[in-house]
Amino acid sequence: MREREEEAEKGTVTHDPEMARLLFLIILYALPSLVVPIHNSSAGGCAIIRPPRDGGIRYRGLTQEQIRSVQILPVDYEIEYICRGNRVIVGPKVRKCLPDGTWTDIEHHSRCLLLCPRVWTSLENGRVMVKPPGPPVEGTVLHYSCHAGFILEGRNISHCTKLGKWDAPKPTCLCECLRQCDQP
Ligand SMILES: *[C@@H]1O[C@H](CO)[C@@H](O)[C@H](O)[C@H]1NC(C)=O
Ligand SMILES: *[C@@H]1O[C@H](CO)[C@@H](O)[C@H](O)[C@H]1NC(C)=O
Repeated sequence: MREREEEAEKGTVTHDPEMARLLFLIILYALPSLVVPIHNSSAGGCAIIRPPRDGGIRYRGLTQEQIRSVQILPVDYEIEYICRGNRVIVGPKVRKCLPDGTWTDIEHHSRCLLLCPRVWTSLENGRVMVKPPGPPVEGTVLHYSCHAGFILEGRNISHCTKLGKWDAPKPTCLCECLRQCDQP
């Protein structure tokens, strides 16, 4: 199922008749250029594309009605991907319709991936290396190390799984001084 979402533009309510007339004229002049290319494929444009799995597409400036019926979007039109729930987009977030009828960055796949808890990506009295850099999504690996004078307790590596969970508990950095006190 293709899910489409729309960012509704809020209409300006006005009681000033002059302003209302002006707005009407603006709409009258803006409408043909906005609507005609959308419903006229011979005028150029790009065929609609599917959103990533677990995501949708934001169509700016279109009514709900237009979003349902549109097949071709005009050159220079930009679509934006949005992800459901606790997911973030990895890959291009925005695509623009090019004059040759293709979308930008089409060779780069966009995916909506679950985010693992961010608290794992920082460590008190230590450092965390996030690979690859960016939001901690499925496939991200964390490498933990402690500052001098601290000892790592727990595993020094954790992977973000496709369920959006880290596969190891967050380690801690214990002060060596405390250890020495524990052991007489
Ligand atoms: C579609 O666009 C073409 C070329 O711009 C034009 O000749 C034709 O009349 C248009 N058709 C409609 C239904 O607007
Ligand atoms: C991480 O821990 C493993 C075993 O617990 C160890 O062999 C490895 O050297 C450690 N890696 C780093 C970078 O400290």
